[in-house]
Amino acid sequence: MATVNNGIHVPVMLNEVLDYLNLKKEGIYVDCTFGKGGHSRSILEKLEKGKLIAFEWDEETANLVQKDKLFLSSQFHLINDNFANLEEHLKKMNIQEVDGFLFDLGLSSDQLAEEGRGFSYRLNSPLDMRMSGKSKLKAEDIINNYSCEKLADIFYHYGEERRARIIARKICYRRKKEKITNTEQLVGIIASCFSRKTNKHPARKAFQALRIFINNELENLTQALEVALKYLTLDGRIIVISYHSLEDRIVKQLFKKMSLENNFYVVTKKPLAPNSEEISYNHRARSAKMRVIFHHG
Ligand SMILES: C[S@@+](CC[C@H](N)C(=O)[O-])C[C@H]1O[C@@H](n2cnc3c(N)ncnc32)[C@H](O)[C@@H]1O
Repeated sequence: MATVNNGIHVPVMLNEVLDYLNLKKEGIYVDCTFGKGGHSRSILEKLEKGKLIAFEWDEETANLVQKDKLFLSSQFHLINDNFANLEEHLKKMNIQEVDGFLFDLGLSSDQLAEEGRGFSYRLNSPLDMRMSGKSKLKAEDIINNYSCEKLADIFYHYGEERRARIIARKICYRRKKEKITNTEQLVGIIASCFSRKTNKHPARKAFQALRIFINNELENLTQALEVALKYLTLDGRIIVISYHSLEDRIVKQLFKKMSLENNFYVVTKKPLAPNSEEISYNHRARSAKMRVIFHHG
């Protein structure tokens, strides 16, 4: 996650990322979630002869890179693809070992604020929620065509939404009367399932669930982390910044398993969080959790 503060793009936990990556000037690094290139920029500036490869699945976001001279460097290579395909690309580039991987998961604040994407429950948009325009399945297809049971499962498993069944039933009832095509309709249905007002938005968990399901986010993360662990060189590090418990659980469990079975050391016994100063100027950073694993040979 990253935000814009007085027009300046602020990457989350940048100092911690740079400290823990322990950059080698000639190393090979992979930023799996380029976004607006906030972390990539700082990494690239510190590499003398090294190389930075970055992944960005969203075509519109990936296109922004052309506007920035720094990213025209021959030391930088952007791949517009899902990081789940990490191994395929490393093989194509003939890379056998990587000194550090960074995952700053989720969406950028720009993607959330973009009308037409359907990611935000605060904006009225068509029900899309695809991270890449090349993917076929949209939120509208799920909401209007999936069975009531399947909808409830999605809200429960990917959003940890306790009202999953009630929300699913209401959606199925409403769609018999009219097609549900935009976020405003969906938010209205979800909100009607909550009798009491809460501090958090009632549609927060259901929207998270749909986004994770549509984009296969948990499977992508597991697949990419397994490859990253395989390619990590001696003394190399993997850093993951996650923003919800489902992602954090995957990282925690996989890192723990690797440290018990192999030559890996989990640097962060408890996840690191941004300090209060960072949260005060970048509110979106408040839910960030950072975990680091180290290959000690
Ligand atoms: C939180 S933002 C990263 C912000 C970035 N660190 C910065 O400082 O600008 C996450 C980015 O990762 C991208 N992303 C999410 N899942 C991805 C995936 N499976 N493969 C490639 N990119 C992905 C999103 O499109 C988004 O642009």
